[in-house]
Amino acid sequence: MFLDRKEREYLARLEPGRPISIRGGKIAVADIVGREEGTAVRSSFNEPFLVFRPSLPQLIPNLPRSAQVIYPKDIGPILIWADLFPGARVVEAGVGVGALSMALLRAIGDDGQLISYEIREDFAELAQKSVARYFGPTPNWTVKIGDVAAELAETGVDRVVLDLPEPWQVIDAAWKALRPGGILLCYLPTVLQIKTLVDALRDYNRFACIETSESLMRFWHFKGMSARPQHRMVAHTGFITSARRLADDQKDIPRAP
Ligand SMILES: C[S@@+](CC[C@H](N)C(=O)[O-])C[C@H]1O[C@@H](n2cnc3c(N)ncnc32)[C@H](O)[C@@H]1O
Repeated sequence: MFLDRKEREYLARLEPGRPISIRGGKIAVADIVGREEGTAVRSSFNEPFLVFRPSLPQLIPNLPRSAQVIYPKDIGPILIWADLFPGARVVEAGVGVGALSMALLRAIGDDGQLISYEIREDFAELAQKSVARYFGPTPNWTVKIGDVAAELAETGVDRVVLDLPEPWQVIDAAWKALRPGGILLCYLPTVLQIKTLVDALRDYNRFACIETSESLMRFWHFKGMSARPQHRMVAHTGFITSARRLADDQKDIPRAP
């Protein structure tokens, strides 16, 4: 990640012998390799750029886009509300740009397993290329092409994470895939979708702890004595709904008499 004087971001991958080109200026790869992150290099136009390996919040907005990508502000809460842990076996759908896949892969670590369903082969291909290019090798990631509602074949998984428009179609398949106590987490942009999902989960009656939330993140501006929230913010992205699978022989949620 190259940052100019105004901290504008330019994402590039270093390849031996291939200079980086930013705004017409060239930077030799040999000037970067072997130096510490956070070092400034100069382009052939004498313009300085700070160089870092990208963090996930820097990488995600700069990934090549096919579908709508999840914002980093939502990925943090998703990882906690889905209670991801090293070694977890996780089913995800759809893959989209692969942003959430990268965060899930990082959270489950080398001992975990991620199986991701994507209905569009072209999206899956682009996402796999981005993950290979910017995240690295992922021997514990399997991408399956198909409709997750119809094709979900795994059983005994710890988590099912859905970022697709009609997750209520996947509730039964998710219940069958999850182990008892496993967590289903769905990410949806609109209220009517959330309402449909929550109603469907309640009717299904074999998930407990159904919770919906949204996160608002406001960046702040600090310059001299001017310390205030930034004027603009991303006011709405999506809602997170999570639920826990009941035991196999628990047919419904116990209710107060
Ligand atoms: C909003 S995007 C997902 C973005 C992704 N979470 C990311 O971080 O880049 C939704 C994706 O779900 C896929 N999709 C929609 N319905 C699906 C289904 N029934 N089964 C599998 N994938 C599906 C779409 O093709 C699209 O790529």
